[in-house]
Amino acid sequence: MNREIQVFACPHGPLLVRGADIVVDESGDEHAVERPVVALCVCEGSGRKPWCDGTHKSIRRDLP
Ligand code: FES
Repeated sequence: MNREIQVFACPHGPLLVRGADIVVDESGDEHAVERPVVALCVCEGSGRKPWCDGTHKSIRRDLP
């Protein structure tokens, strides 16, 4: 069964993922997705990876 998964990259923030059942982190650990949309940390600063906890707002870097 094909299922549509959408990913949206927030400027200077997380990846928003809609439609996923599982997220596999960089260690290969699986995390069940229990919401329609989840935010994945891409800044490496979250205290609850792989999920975004908003830390990116305080460690924002100067980007072009
Ligand atoms: S992207 Fe939000 S805490 Fe890392």
